[in-house]
Parts: sequence; C-alpha cells; structure tokens
Amino acid sequence: MRINFNYSGHLCSRQRTSVTMTYQDLQVTKNDGVVHIQLTREKSLNALRNLTLKEIADVLHHAEKNRDEKCVVISGSESVFAAGADIGEMQQLSPVSSLQNIRAEYWKVIRKFPKPLLASVNGYALGAGCELMMHCDIVLVGNNALIGQPEINLGIIPGAGGTQLLIRTIGKAMAMKMILSGEPINAERALESGLAIELCPKEITLKRTLKLANEIAKKSPLALRLAKEAVLHAFESPLEQGLEHERRAFSILTASTDREEGINAFIEKRPPNYI
Ligand code: CAA
Repeated sequence: MRINFNYSGHLCSRQRTSVTMTYQDLQVTKNDGVVHIQLTREKSLNALRNLTLKEIADVLHHAEKNRDEKCVVISGSESVFAAGADIGEMQQLSPVSSLQNIRAEYWKVIRKFPKPLLASVNGYALGAGCELMMHCDIVLVGNNALIGQPEINLGIIPGAGGTQLLIRTIGKAMAMKMILSGEPINAERALESGLAIELCPKEITLKRTLKLANEIAKKSPLALRLAKEAVLHAFESPLEQGLEHERRAFSILTASTDREEGINAFIEKRPPNYI
C-alpha cells in the first residue's frame, strides 16, 4: 500500500525564527531545527484516528527530507497525550480491512523516522497513545501521566507494537501485568521502569522536552542519525552483530565533515557549527 504525502498543513503564522502550521488534528511549530507536533484533538482525548496518524506521518516524511529540521517532539496538551486508537473508527474494522489498514504504513513511517524523536507526555497515554510514546527515542513524563495498554478491556490486544515494545523496555513481568490487566501505571512507575527518562511537573514537561530537543538539534545531524540507528540495532541483533554495526558506523563518521568540525571546535575551544 502506498502513502501519498501531500503535506496538507496550512501556514498559520511565520515569525522571524518560527513557523506554525495547522492540520486538522495537529499543530506543527518549527523553530531552530526543532519540529514540535502537538496533537490538538483534545475533545476526543487525542484519540489517534487514521487522519491523525496520516498527518503525523506526513510531517515526519517532510522532516526526514528537510536538512534544517533536526529533531522532532510529539506532545499532547497539559492534560492528555493520547487515549488510544479511535474506538469508533476501530469498531468498523473487519479482519480484512484491519489487515489492509493503511495505519500500518503510517506506523512504519514513525518507526523508521531516522532523526531523534522525543515524546512529551502529560496525562493519558493509553493503547495506541502508549505505543506512539514508545516509538519515540526519548520520553519525558509529567507528574499527571497515566500510561497503559487497556485494549484487554475492549476484548482486543495492542495492535501497534505494544506487546513487542513494552517487553523490550520494561521486561516480561511488568509488560504482562499491564497488557493482561489493562491497568495503567503512573509517572513514577514509568520513570522507574525505564519507559521515561525524566519526570517533570506537568506545567513544564513540554518546555523541558523542547529544551532537550534544542540541545540535540545542535549536534551533528549525521552522528545523530548513525547513533540512533546503532542503538535501535540492538533490538534486532545479537551482541556481536550490534558491535560490528557500531564499529562500521563509527568508522564511516571518521570521513565526515561533521567530525572534522566537532574535533576542530573542541581544539579551538569554541562551539561546533554543523551545517
Ligand atoms: N477513541 C475515541 N474516543 C475516545 C477515546 C478513544 N480511544 N478515548 C476517549 N474518547 C472520547 C470519549 O468518547 C469522550 O467523547 P464524548 O465527549 O463525545 O463522549 C471524550 O473522549 C472524553 O472521554 P471520557 O468522557 O471517557 O473521559 P473520562 O475522563 O471520563 O475518561 C478515559 C478518560 C479513562 C481515558 C476514557 O476516555 C477511556 O477509557 N478511553 C478509552 C481508552 C482506551 O481504551 N484506549 C485504547 C484504545 S484501543 C487501541 O489503542 C488499539 C491499538 O493499540 C491499535
């Protein structure tokens, strides 16, 4: 199945350093190399309907191609990240339409996005919302976060990677409890278990995530890309293969102008300037 990327956002405002675009389910702000995707379907608790995923995939597709877009942050509002797949939309699915659902392609775009992807999670991150969060490389949670895979309560199971991604991050015991009971975990538990890396007061989760994204956006784009690829490689391969992958990526970078700039900047005691 092929996706048509049509970049359907509307320019909303352009200031000296930032551009804001609105989509039906998102607002996208681009500032200093950081693309911030904010889910804006709050009335439905940001339930991830097909259109929402299509719009996210669209923004990521363009961010991948655009050299000036270095890093992406996904957030909801201060009170909700996303309460799962859109249950009304899901109700219409048959086995065949489920297998042919273009959603899988949108998820693939998110999964394969090669630049750093951060999640800023306040409130509910449930079902597909939790899965979206787990597709991100770095997760910060607010103190009101509630994270879970409640699909079991609907007589279904996670369908966008929940069973596979949870176990790789938090281990079998906790993944089984979350998936079989449907009970969510709170922000402290998410932090302890390794799902999240920072816990913030909910008022500043986004600010803190954007600050981290800004720092990351200043690094070498090529090194970021190869670093992300190498870390994710560990999920797919035995240690020897992973180490070999890392050694090759490390060696490739010795030929990059970014490496030259990074080392020169260190020696000349100035910040590096990667193009
Ligand atoms: N899909 C569609 N609509 C949703 C939704 C969802 N996942 N979650 C919430 N909404 C809607 C509600 O229907 C409601 O809409 P109306 O005002 O039009 O009635 C609105 O958002 C507000 O929701 P509530 O009134 O239920 O809010 P609450 O504060 O009382 O409860 C909640 C919040 C506990 C998160 C509850 O909304 C809930 O349980 N939501 C469903 C969570 C869920 O089961 N997620 C998994 C979905 S399946 C999935 O994601 C599969 C997959 O992996 C691919």
